[in-house]
Amino acid sequence: MPKSSASDLAVLGGAPLFDRPRSTSNLVSPDADAFLRYSRLFYEGGRHTNDEPVVRLMEQRFARFHGTHYCVAICNGFWALVLGIKALALPGRTEVLMPSLTYRRLADVVSWAGLVPRFCEVDRSSLAISPQRVEDEIGEQTALIIGVHPIVNCCDAPALEALSARHDIPLLFDGVESVYETVRGRKVGSFGFAECFSFHASKLMNGFEGGYLTTNDAALAERLRAMRDFGAGPDGGVAQWGTRAAMSEIHAAAALAALDGLEAQVVRNKARYRAYQRVLRGMTGVRLLEFDENERCSFKNIVVELTDEWPLSRDMTVACLNAERILARAYYSPPLHLKQAGYRTINKSLPLTEFLAQRFISMPCGHFVDETDIEAIAATLSLIAASAHAIEAAKDREA
Ligand SMILES: Cc1ncc(COP(=O)(O)O)c(C=O)c1O
Repeated sequence: MPKSSASDLAVLGGAPLFDRPRSTSNLVSPDADAFLRYSRLFYEGGRHTNDEPVVRLMEQRFARFHGTHYCVAICNGFWALVLGIKALALPGRTEVLMPSLTYRRLADVVSWAGLVPRFCEVDRSSLAISPQRVEDEIGEQTALIIGVHPIVNCCDAPALEALSARHDIPLLFDGVESVYETVRGRKVGSFGFAECFSFHASKLMNGFEGGYLTTNDAALAERLRAMRDFGAGPDGGVAQWGTRAAMSEIHAAAALAALDGLEAQVVRNKARYRAYQRVLRGMTGVRLLEFDENERCSFKNIVVELTDEWPLSRDMTVACLNAERILARAYYSPPLHLKQAGYRTINKSLPLTEFLAQRFISMPCGHFVDETDIEAIAATLSLIAASAHAIEAAKDREA
């Protein structure tokens, strides 16, 4: 039943809009036959680990996909980042320059790599780390810069590359949310010294779990492989810092099946994105973040900004949506510099980041959200706006 009055809203006592939650996770299952076909390569050959035929195939296919020379499979995106940082950070220096409005575990990653996050301001329009502000922050202790591609579109990777070259500081990209995209026509994966990706089930390519790094540097690829496999040298002895962070064959099989189904998925994502464009056009106070269609886009993530004309706070709006089982999420909020961390970070006031961290919402998307859902979500958003007084009054009564 469509909702027509304030009392229909779940936050004011009505029944939730959906029986089954609609989430921001992609959760596309790789095609079962393709998954089993790839899995047979290791299962029937009896090579369950160590000789890794499927992981090797995955590395070849993903290097080709990104147009890079090397791809190094890792157990997940988190450890791919840790290894990338460990391999690239300038020795003897302590700090990593990174955005604060970003992946909620990125500071933990830096800490696991034994370094200290120094947070930087973002760019208002891209929401990505600002090259100008990175330049202001570079100092004697800067060991590495991490550029993270935001959820919609990409950061100015060429500008960051130029900056890295000018100051002779290595540059690592977190390309997890932009695995399919291009920047000025060049595929993500080939920027900086290396880029990192994830096969987490919520990502564009679902390997259930998993991750990898891409690079064009042969020595770096070899070093990353050694670090991933205990830090072992050619004779099997420990030659450098290492861990155990290999990807399993089963995850590589799922990732390959996901890659095979990717183009069809992008077509479906684009239809969902077009539906959001249609239903949000003209809605006062809501701005859909548009994909830059001059580039290659996955159209996976849907993010909206609540502008000054929107009558409720972002957090209250998210609470109203969640009550409807519309599992919208506050976009990268709180930013990392405002979070409690059990390790040292270097924070300063980041007013733009703090302002932006109150304005954006990641909306439901992916395989389990259809165009009818999107129409119902937009109608509910409109009703929430129209019911703002009633919602505020109910909140005051509760307080
Ligand atoms: C931007 C970004 N970087 C890195 C990661 C880490 O990937 P994983 O979940 O595979 O460890 C994530 C996961 O959510 C992410 O969103």
